[in-house]
Amino acid sequence: MEKALLHLGDTTYELDIITGSEGEKALDISKLRDKTGYITLDIGYKNTGSTVSRITFIDGEQGILRYRGYPIEQLAEFSTYLEVAYLLIYGELPTRSQLENFEGRIKERTLIHEDIKKFFDGFPSSAHPMGILASVLCSLSSFYPESLDPYAPDEVIDRNIIRLLAKVPTLIAWIYKKRNGHPYMYPRNERSYVENFLHMMFGMPTYDYEPDPHVVDALNKLLILHADHEQNCSTSTVRTVGSSLANIYASVAAGVCALWGPLHGGANQEVIEMLEMIRADGGNIQKWIDKAKDKNDPFRLMGFGHRVYKNFDPRAKIIKQAADQVLNALGIHDPVLDIAKKLEEVALSDPYFIERRLYPNVDFYSGIIYRAIGIPVDMFTVMFAFGRLAGWLAQWLEMRKAGEPIVRPRQVYVGPTLREYVPIAKRG
Ligand code: CMC
Repeated sequence: MEKALLHLGDTTYELDIITGSEGEKALDISKLRDKTGYITLDIGYKNTGSTVSRITFIDGEQGILRYRGYPIEQLAEFSTYLEVAYLLIYGELPTRSQLENFEGRIKERTLIHEDIKKFFDGFPSSAHPMGILASVLCSLSSFYPESLDPYAPDEVIDRNIIRLLAKVPTLIAWIYKKRNGHPYMYPRNERSYVENFLHMMFGMPTYDYEPDPHVVDALNKLLILHADHEQNCSTSTVRTVGSSLANIYASVAAGVCALWGPLHGGANQEVIEMLEMIRADGGNIQKWIDKAKDKNDPFRLMGFGHRVYKNFDPRAKIIKQAADQVLNALGIHDPVLDIAKKLEEVALSDPYFIERRLYPNVDFYSGIIYRAIGIPVDMFTVMFAFGRLAGWLAQWLEMRKAGEPIVRPRQVYVGPTLREYVPIAKRG
């Protein structure tokens, strides 16, 4: 095995070099503290591998994203979200009969316990959809106590994975209905996964909702593009929470909370709000570019930049094209799309963005599609969670199967050293 040498004082230590299947290199420092007394410091884990994984490969320099070896471009063009979910969770593309079986098992579980409706009653109609989703997901664990057993057999784990895939679309659609004060729609299991979701979202007891095939296609694409992204903030959270042997519902609910932030999944909502703001302000692109560059101004160009991608985000390329296609097919002209394209053009020729290698990310154009489909802005981030669910489940399962230890980083303490307690009477 290849080794790296670490010189500390007069002593030289050997560190193993781990090489990934795509040639990435890592120094194995797992025994470093035992051997040397030192830890490594990497705030924000910018250079720290938290695991070895077989699920998703990203090359940020080349703009490559692959699930289990398959390029995202091919999956987005030819597969469905459930096919991709199967691939992520079980490791291989399903045969036709495996896919039918998988879809059938999901269809059997799309209903939600009627008592869950009472949870919805308790939220104000202005509640943020991410808050509702996280709370209700965590509460689902109480309806499936078998999920609490950290040593449950594989079939129990698998059943709960299927349950989550089945129930999340119903929950999201019910969040929408609650928000609008409309009656909850029950699943129609003769429909495909995405069609059923659209039926529960936009259908009414008074009429049948027939989704436009362009909308079904676009939504499948968006879900696939969001399905996994290796050890990002929310996925690392799911693995971290799961590493304490917390149940799968609690782990996924934690992932929803992590995704909510505007630097992560919450960026898609922020992008549309930003584009609307720029439009309302008269569409002066340069003014907002200058604000994004100004270090004394907290404004950032939302939907721009990525921790890993430094040349382009392959998901953004596909989504930009899909946005044009869907809007054309639906005969929609969204002035915000024009602003987005102009903003991208100006930013990509500005030295600030070029030097920092900041490009549109997955969130830059996705909101435009969601909007065209009829999904309200405050629900964009739950749509991200909907897609990312498959990845969270796959990553949680991988972590559990590998028997990974509880996540417990260390720190470098820089607070006060030992001092004596001063009674309050003497503190003045
Ligand atoms: N607008 C203006 N400046 C930016 C931006 C931006 N969107 N993103 C990064 N920068 C600057 C940043 O100020 C810093 O400049 P300097 O070196 O002069 O201090 C430099 O670029 C590096 O940025 P960073 O914040 O250190 O990079 P990071 O890897 O820690 O952050 C990021 C990555 C995605 C959080 C960040 O680019 C950002 O805040 N983007 C906007 C939010 C966003 O779109 N998030 C969605 C990410 S993709 C979906 C997902 O997977 O979650």
